[in-house]
Amino acid sequence: METLVVDHPLVAHKLTVLRNAETDSPTFRRLADELVTLLAYEATRHVRVTDVTVETPVAPASGVRLAQPYPLVVPILRAGLGMLDGMTRLLPTAEVGFLGMIRNESTLKAETYATRLPDDLSGRQVYVVDPMLATGGTLAAAVEFLFERGAYDVTALCLLAAPEGIAHMDQVFAGSGRPIRLVTAAVDERLNENGYIVPGLGDAGDRLYG
Ligand code: PRP
Repeated sequence: METLVVDHPLVAHKLTVLRNAETDSPTFRRLADELVTLLAYEATRHVRVTDVTVETPVAPASGVRLAQPYPLVVPILRAGLGMLDGMTRLLPTAEVGFLGMIRNESTLKAETYATRLPDDLSGRQVYVVDPMLATGGTLAAAVEFLFERGAYDVTALCLLAAPEGIAHMDQVFAGSGRPIRLVTAAVDERLNENGYIVPGLGDAGDRLYG
């Protein structure tokens, strides 16, 4: 998996406020939304475009527009919903599919409880949004699901990632030859014994939605 940590003072500033346990839910939601738009700018660097020509008031100009089929944005419920608007603001023509997944807090295994995606993802570029990459179980299961349906490539946007989660993704998809990217604001130190990212920001779903 190709991992990009977005190194930008605005990203670092917003992430620092998100980490603060004293930041309330409304502020957390707004900052998560702003942060994903900054990450999305980098994450869409490989979005496919086609060449077009437009007429300016002066002369023809060469340009590009998003190629079809349009990208698919997949928030992983529930916490990923807090990143959806920030993503579609930048990709307004994207289609949106949903994956409901929850990590069993005893076994730390990901369980899927809802799927609402196009059946055929052949040739589609997919952007998965989920605030946390912890053990990597959730993201690995989501990416496997998307590739099974034919996705062309998958880019994950996570506010925070743990080294263990990145290593898990690398292990699961080693030699798969499928393009997988991760764009994140930071890679933290480690996971604790409960599978929480340290120092992290706590439980993103709870901080977004209570
Ligand atoms: C969190 C997070 C990821 C997952 C990460 O969701 O949003 O989906 O855990 O953990 P992993 O990398 O160890 O699999 P959670 O299961 O808490 O559900 P929620 O979004 O409904 O709060």
